[in-house]
Amino acid sequence: MAMMRVASLMVLLVCLVQGRVRLFEQSEGEIWAVLLAGSNSYMNYRHQADVCHAYQILHQHGVPDDHIIVMMYDDIANSKQNPNPGVIINRPNGPNVYDGVVKDYTGKDVTPENFLKVLNGDAEGLSGVGSGKVLKSGPNDHVFINMVDHGAPGIFAFPQKYLYVQNFTDTILTMHRNQQFKELTIYLEACESGSMFKDIPDDINVYGLSASNAVESSYACYLVDELHTFVGDVFSVKWMEDTDREDTINETLLQQFLIVKKETTTSHVLQWGEKSLDQEVTGAFLGNKAAVADDFGPFLSLNDPCLQSSIRSEDVPLAILQNNVNKANGLTGADFWKQQVDVMQQNRTFVKETMRKIVRVVTGDDAITEQMMTNTHQEIHDNDCHQSSVRTFHDLCFNLGLNPYALRVVHAMVNLCEHGYTADQFSCAARAVCDFDPVTGIN
Ligand SMILES: *[C@@H]1O[C@H](CO)[C@@H](O)[C@H](O)[C@H]1NC(C)=O
Ligand SMILES: *[C@@H]1O[C@H](CO)[C@@H](O)[C@H](O)[C@H]1NC(C)=O
Ligand SMILES: *[C@@H]1O[C@H](CO)[C@@H](O)[C@H](O)[C@H]1NC(C)=O
Repeated sequence: MAMMRVASLMVLLVCLVQGRVRLFEQSEGEIWAVLLAGSNSYMNYRHQADVCHAYQILHQHGVPDDHIIVMMYDDIANSKQNPNPGVIINRPNGPNVYDGVVKDYTGKDVTPENFLKVLNGDAEGLSGVGSGKVLKSGPNDHVFINMVDHGAPGIFAFPQKYLYVQNFTDTILTMHRNQQFKELTIYLEACESGSMFKDIPDDINVYGLSASNAVESSYACYLVDELHTFVGDVFSVKWMEDTDREDTINETLLQQFLIVKKETTTSHVLQWGEKSLDQEVTGAFLGNKAAVADDFGPFLSLNDPCLQSSIRSEDVPLAILQNNVNKANGLTGADFWKQQVDVMQQNRTFVKETMRKIVRVVTGDDAITEQMMTNTHQEIHDNDCHQSSVRTFHDLCFNLGLNPYALRVVHAMVNLCEHGYTADQFSCAARAVCDFDPVTGIN
C-alpha cells in the first residue's frame, strides 16, 4: 500500500515535471540585446549614431532597458566639435537618437575583453566596470547583437584594440553551449564584415547579416554639412529605416534581408549561419510592440539621399577634410584644411610604405611584394599565421584601434599567410622595419 502510494506519487511527480518542462519550452521567452559601437572620435560620429538608433528601435518596440546592453565610447553628443550639444542624429534633420540611450560601457571600458564578457554573461568579470550589466538570457530567449565599426579581414576594431574573428566565433559557440539563447541574430556593419562570420556553424540557431562580403569596404552615408561629418552607414541606415517603416510583427528577417540587400547597392549584404531562422519576424529580436508612429519614423523620399551621399568607409576622413576645404570661410580656413588633407595623405602613405617594406623583406622580391600589397585578399585559412602577424603589426608598427587607416593594409598579411610565408618571417621583418616611435591618429 505504502509502496504503491510512493509509486503513484513518483508518476505524478514525473508528470508534473514533464508538464513544467513542456510549458517552459513553449513559453515565449524574452528579448535581450547587445549594441556595440567600436570606434571613437567625432570623425566616426556615424557608428555611435547607428547604435543609438538601434537602441531607439528596441526601446520603441517594448524591449526594456534592463535587457539592452549598450557599449559605446560616448564622446559624440558632447564633443566640442558637435554644434548641437546633447544631440545625435542618424539622418539629415532626423530626430535625436541619443535621447534616453542607456550607457552601460563607455570610454575606456569599450574593449573587446569587456564586450566578450558581456556576451558570456560574465557578471563577475565585469563587477565594478561600467554598469556591470551582462547578458542574462536563457534557453528560451531571443538575443540580438548589433556591432558597428571599422573592420578588416578577420578583425573588428575597438578604440585601442581589436577583436579577432576566432575570439568572436569561440564566444558565440560558448554562448550556444551554455544555452544562452534559443535563437541569436547578429547584424554587423564594418569593412570586410563577411570575414567575421566565416566559422559560425549553420546549425546552432545563430543567424547573421554582414554589411559587406569578406573582401570589400562597407559604406558611410549622409554627410551633413553643418555637422561636418557623416551621420550614418548604408547597411545600418537601410535595415533601421526599413524597421522604422515596417511592422515588426509581420516582417520576416528574410523580407528585411531582401530589402536591405536590394537597397544597399554599395556593398554585398550577406546572410550567414542558420538561414532558416530568417522565417522569424524581426519583432522576435527587435520587439513586437507597435511603435509610436513618426517618432523615429521612416525617411521617405523618392531619390535615395543615403545612397546619393554614400562613400567607402575608408574615404570618410578625407571626404570630411575636403568638405571643410570647400565650405571654408576665406582663404586661410581653406588653406588650413588643404594642409590637413596633405598631411593625412602623407600619413596614409607612411602606413602603406611601412607595410610594403615589411612585405619586401619577407618575400625578397619586388614583383611578389606588389602582388601581396594589391591583390584582393583571399579567405583566411591560416588563422594562426594571420592572428599572430596582425598582433605583431599592431604591437610593433601601428596600433589598429588608434590608427584606423592601418586596417587598410591588413589584407597584405592575409596574402602572405595564404601564400605560405610564416608569422615568424613577418615578425622578424616587422621588427627590423618598425623602428619608429609609436604613432596615433592615422585615419
Ligand atoms: C583571444 O584569444 C586569444 C587566444 O585564445 C587570447 O590570448 C586573447 O586574450 C583573446 N582576446 C580576447 C579579447 O579575449
Ligand atoms: C502587417 O500588419 C499590419 C498591422 O499591424 C498591417 O497593416 C499590414 O498590412 C501587415 N502586413 C502584411 C504584409 O501582412
Ligand atoms: C598624421 O599623423 C600623426 C601621427 O604620426 C598624427 O598625430 C596627425 O594627427 C595625423 N594628421 C592627419 C591630418 O592625419
